[in-house]
Amino acid sequence: MDRIPQTVSPVRPAIVSIQPNDIGRVSYLALGEPDMLPLWFGETDLKTPDFICDAAKKALDDGYTFYTHARGIAPLREAIRGFHRRTLQTEIALERITVPGAAMLSVVLALQTVIETGDNVVCVSPVWPNIFQAAEITGAEVKFCRLQEDWTRSRWTLDLERLFATCDARTKAIFIASPGNPTGWIMSPAEQRAVLEFCRARGIAIISDEVYGTLVYDGSPHAPSFLQVAEPDDAVFVINSFSKPWAMTGWRIGWLTHPAYLSDQMNVLSMANNTGATTFAQWGAVAALSPQGDAFRRSLLERCRTGYEVTRRFVDSQNRIRWMPPEGAFYGFLHVDGMRDSFNFACNLVRNARVGVAPGSAFAPPDDTATDSYIRICFAQNSERVQTGLARLGAAVAAL
Ligand SMILES: Cc1ncc(COP(=O)(O)O)c(C=O)c1O
Repeated sequence: MDRIPQTVSPVRPAIVSIQPNDIGRVSYLALGEPDMLPLWFGETDLKTPDFICDAAKKALDDGYTFYTHARGIAPLREAIRGFHRRTLQTEIALERITVPGAAMLSVVLALQTVIETGDNVVCVSPVWPNIFQAAEITGAEVKFCRLQEDWTRSRWTLDLERLFATCDARTKAIFIASPGNPTGWIMSPAEQRAVLEFCRARGIAIISDEVYGTLVYDGSPHAPSFLQVAEPDDAVFVINSFSKPWAMTGWRIGWLTHPAYLSDQMNVLSMANNTGATTFAQWGAVAALSPQGDAFRRSLLERCRTGYEVTRRFVDSQNRIRWMPPEGAFYGFLHVDGMRDSFNFACNLVRNARVGVAPGSAFAPPDDTATDSYIRICFAQNSERVQTGLARLGAAVAAL
């Protein structure tokens, strides 16, 4: 059959131009190969705890195999409300909570709510690529405002004036992940208030990705949240996930907090995208939000602390690798002095050193050459694994 000429193809240009991101491209070289040491994905090596799996199994045995309310079962939304009370001392009305499926789907719902083709989304970067790819798919142009390295104080910083200057009349949303992936940067309440004030005045939505909210290293129960500074009717969408704190990445379940006046719209969007979250996964999620789940979260955080320490000792022993220690999340975003092509470097690590890392290039647009000198490792893993992976990385950097 003749190929359909491009000019009459029904495929949208935004879809034609998308490509697998650089984390995917590196990992496809050796995914699942037994001698590989994978530190490339954002997940712990712990399996989901038994009490969560048991709750989901029981739900299956008890016949919870039917459609549910598209915004999530009532016990789950209640439990989520309790979680926000415990970790943020914030009261969230049930009308504001929707469980459409995974956190990634919550991001999509928020984007679908505000974006029309030709609008733009400003992302604070470096940022997880699925986010800006999802924005492009909705028809948005993506603009980036890069966090800046402050090597003297060893922290990432956000220049608010530059963030505001990046916005224009077609900006419909600012996307901020705090704690950030890959940087581990945390936004302060003062910065949140300034962004909120700017967005209120300009009619811009805030998509605040807080999936790493409880994975913080200063001893507090939660990173500062937009839920603590925004009014219930502000155009603020807060993204949360069961994936990271409860080791549930394969369950594909998370939630969205949104203004109450959008609850019907969220119902319809959830229906249109997935007709609600998987029923037995929701019962597993209810168990995750129990006191036992809180205890598991604490033990996972301890595992991350150990991984953090292993990474810190490794970085201290290297003269060509630097980092700004993460304030939250579970990644080491490592700057390799003299390395300028993180994608090729990561591919060579797979081929020659058998360690998997995410290249910095994945987290930024092509013109952001500064981020191309970084690689990301996930340290939420068994510490010997992290140690061995880092030793392989160190040897490869020495030979660079
Ligand atoms: C910043 C950020 N947001 C959202 C997600 C997606 O979470 P989920 O697996 O629940 O869709 C991730 C996963 O890596 C992430 O890093």
